[in-house]
Amino acid sequence: MTAPHAWPELTGIAYGGDYNPEQWPRETWREDVELMRNAGVNLVSVGIFSWALIEIAEGEFDFSWLDELLDLLHENGIAVDLGTPTASPPAWFFAEHPDARVIDRDGRVMGFGSRGMASHSAPAYREAIVRYADALAARYAQHPAVVLWHVHNEYGVPVGEDHSDHAQAAFRVWLQEKYGTLDALNSAWGTAFWGQHYTDWQHISTPTTAPSVVNPAQRLDFARFTDHQLRACFIAERDAIRAHSDRPVTTNFMANQSWTTDLWAWGREVDIVSDDHYLWAADEDAHIGLAIAADLSRSVGGGKPWILMEHSTSAVNWQPRNIAKRPGEMARNSLTHLGRGADGILFFQWRAGRSGAEKFHSAMLPHAGVDSRIFREVTALGADLQRLEAVQGSRVQAEVAILWDFESFWAQDLEWRPTDDVSHQERIRAFYERLWRDGITIDFALPGQDLSAYKLVIAPAQYLLRAADAENLTDYVESGGTLLVSYFSAVVDENDAVHPGGFLAPLRDALGVDVEEHLPLREGQTAAVTTAVGDSLNADHWQEALRLHGAEVVGTYRDGPAAGEAAITRNRRGEGTGWYVSTRLDAEGLSRLMSQVYADAAVAPAGLPEDLEVITRHGDDASYRIVINHADDDAALAATGQDLLTGIEIDDSFTIPAGGVAVIRSKKTRTT
Ligand code: GAL
Repeated sequence: MTAPHAWPELTGIAYGGDYNPEQWPRETWREDVELMRNAGVNLVSVGIFSWALIEIAEGEFDFSWLDELLDLLHENGIAVDLGTPTASPPAWFFAEHPDARVIDRDGRVMGFGSRGMASHSAPAYREAIVRYADALAARYAQHPAVVLWHVHNEYGVPVGEDHSDHAQAAFRVWLQEKYGTLDALNSAWGTAFWGQHYTDWQHISTPTTAPSVVNPAQRLDFARFTDHQLRACFIAERDAIRAHSDRPVTTNFMANQSWTTDLWAWGREVDIVSDDHYLWAADEDAHIGLAIAADLSRSVGGGKPWILMEHSTSAVNWQPRNIAKRPGEMARNSLTHLGRGADGILFFQWRAGRSGAEKFHSAMLPHAGVDSRIFREVTALGADLQRLEAVQGSRVQAEVAILWDFESFWAQDLEWRPTDDVSHQERIRAFYERLWRDGITIDFALPGQDLSAYKLVIAPAQYLLRAADAENLTDYVESGGTLLVSYFSAVVDENDAVHPGGFLAPLRDALGVDVEEHLPLREGQTAAVTTAVGDSLNADHWQEALRLHGAEVVGTYRDGPAAGEAAITRNRRGEGTGWYVSTRLDAEGLSRLMSQVYADAAVAPAGLPEDLEVITRHGDDASYRIVINHADDDAALAATGQDLLTGIEIDDSFTIPAGGVAVIRSKKTRTT
């Protein structure tokens, strides 16, 4: 088999959405393709939930309607991202294989009538998904409409963990492969505690609900095992497809919205990263969470262009309050994804479904039909994306990295931590938001990777830190990098065991400080920090008793249990600098802190108005500034080039209207 294509064979930015024509009569299909063409749609995802209508009984396939559909789409110039529907097995499958159902932590067997209820460890499920992927790829590998394969749907959602008998057996095998001996497992899990010492592999179970807290090392390994099982299913399907086809294979992630899968590992397995993102309506600045998801999608794919596989044209249907998008918001969202590296903008879904659990979810073609704001905006966006063909393939460059480590999140989210107030998501968002408001582009990174390209690395929540990764961070500082570490980091090793030498010990050399004791605060209690330059910064939730090992004190607690002691420190080490922040500063405090950190790292804020988002993509001959005005006021921006959306040439500045978007191309001047 030849190497898979790096990108679907398409002209321009991919545009479209999930298409579920099996829910509609044939007349509607013809209307759909005509409207898709009017809207500029060039790619649709098909077959994602079609298992029961294609494999009508075990091993008996009826592809007739899919044949007809793919031909119709191809005749109309619409390419296909062809799905394997393995997130939703048919009723006959569960009737024949009742043992393939998921069992949750509390021992409840998941019933039929929904989706995502199959055990990823069940042999019958493994066999069925490969049979389906093989049959589908054999039939359509040469079909000219198929440019991309879409395996499964959102692995780990809605069900990740499985405690069925099949999962129990597979977990034991996985542990034997990982540890080799029971002695090694007993030591890693610290089973001398609470008398959990194992003498037989068969006595080990998945961490089901128990009278009290279950061994955290066991739970952490179970999270790794769960991720591994899901990924093994993806790999099995991908390889079945690759045996027939050289077109790229993807599966849709949920960056920043699901934590079951380690997307760094998944990023290495897919040919193209694709991501689903839905705004969290309760968050008034949900576009910043969106930017996090987009930057993470790009980062786990190694910086290559990726596809936004799903987002919504307006409201979703599964949040407590499903807020409709305001005029222009869908275009702003789309351009943020594009600015942060997406070369495809797709939606869930093309036509709003009349029946089933998702009938109140918005779509490209809403229940109201073509005479609607949404459809007009969809058509306008399609036309805009056609004007952006040149942007395709260009890359985003970042000088700053924020550490994002799923393994650490899995460990931190277990029970019995010093306080419920410490949240990795909250701290990452707080630091990210500060940099977003300063117009600084961010990559996400792992603590063990090569960080030398970054002037500044921020670790807002690195609770679990492997010793080798701590060495990598220390080398980074010694070689001239600026590292900022936030509280409750470097607490445990890969087995959720406290580091020898205590909290923060592995980073003691880099930071010139370690932590004697955690000092969580009472609900509502605040603590102020006075800086060396006389600023007063507000903080809450958390303090630490620090021990200095050479760092200078940049901020001192004014009150709280650590009053009078160091709160923020700065350490010169080798060619670089290590900052440590031992409390939760508020947004204003973080802003003051970061201005000092930027100076150390020689990172310059963009100096733009708040809520004006500007990201640059770099091509071979030109750069593209994607400009999104999230504010209610017009904004002025210095720029030279052409706005690809309007064709207007800009000499030295232009006004971007409230809520507006622009994409400015500037030709690169060659120096040689
Ligand atoms: C996604 C899912 C889609 C649809 C959508 C609704 O998570 O992949 O199938 O359910 O949510 O928002």
